[in-house]
Amino acid sequence: MSDFFSVQDLHVGYGEVRVLHGVSLTAVEGGITAVIGSNGAGKSTLLRSLCGIVPIGSGTVSFEGRDVTDESAERLVAGGISMVPEGRWIFPDMTVLENLRVGAINPRARAVKDETLQAVMEMFPRLRERSSQLGGTLSGGEQQMLALGRGLMAAPKLLLLDEPTLGLAPGIAKQIFKILPDLTALGLTVILAEQNVSKTLSIAHYAYVLENGAIVLEGSGKDLLGNDAIRAAYLGH
Ligand SMILES: Nc1ncnc2c1ncn2[C@@H]1O[C@H](COP(=O)(O)OP(=O)(O)OP(=O)(O)O)[C@@H](O)[C@H]1O
Ligand SMILES: [Mg+2]
Repeated sequence: MSDFFSVQDLHVGYGEVRVLHGVSLTAVEGGITAVIGSNGAGKSTLLRSLCGIVPIGSGTVSFEGRDVTDESAERLVAGGISMVPEGRWIFPDMTVLENLRVGAINPRARAVKDETLQAVMEMFPRLRERSSQLGGTLSGGEQQMLALGRGLMAAPKLLLLDEPTLGLAPGIAKQIFKILPDLTALGLTVILAEQNVSKTLSIAHYAYVLENGAIVLEGSGKDLLGNDAIRAAYLGH
């Protein structure tokens, strides 16, 4: 079990509805760990529970050697866990720059916000060009870049990414997949939930397959790409 981030036997639901049935996983420190699975498998529920938005029924979450299972979303962000939710929740009536600044409100992030902003602008030159444009008028791909950039402004150690390429044109999705490995080059650890199985496995150091709220298979991205069951169920060949 990694000291950096791991989850043991997580059970999560919404009221009476149980969604996750004993999920365990470990994040590869400084790498990309993927959670793949089809619609309704529980990917978003898993990430929401890890960042404190959905309460954890039972199980444990450990981060940097500490038990953080019951910590609030705010404390988790302050401690270095940041989430970029599915659906690009940016503020439409705020400019690109304002959206980015909002990401850096926790004290640890505030201390380094100028450097982080610089790094985000370098990673996404498009955001620099459009820094005074209103978020809501950006294209879908630009909004996703902004959502990612805002997640980075929180200066996370662990970034949870929920389907960052959902609904994007293939060319833009490809750009996003190209950028994700650069995040780990900055020293970040990433947990990526995705339905785009082949692209995800090709950049993931390790991956878990989630079906009906349980992990049914795990392995290196490369091994899973070559796995017959994965090819049949998710890659259509
Ligand atoms: N707020 C909620 N209240 C009740 N049930 C919910 C809620 N959010 C999600 N669910 C249910 O939990 C299950 C898992 O949903 P979840 O959004 O975690 O799946 P997902 O793997 O992220 O799917 P997708 O790929 O479509 O985003 C689904 O059956 C869904 O209907
Ligand atoms: Mg989802």
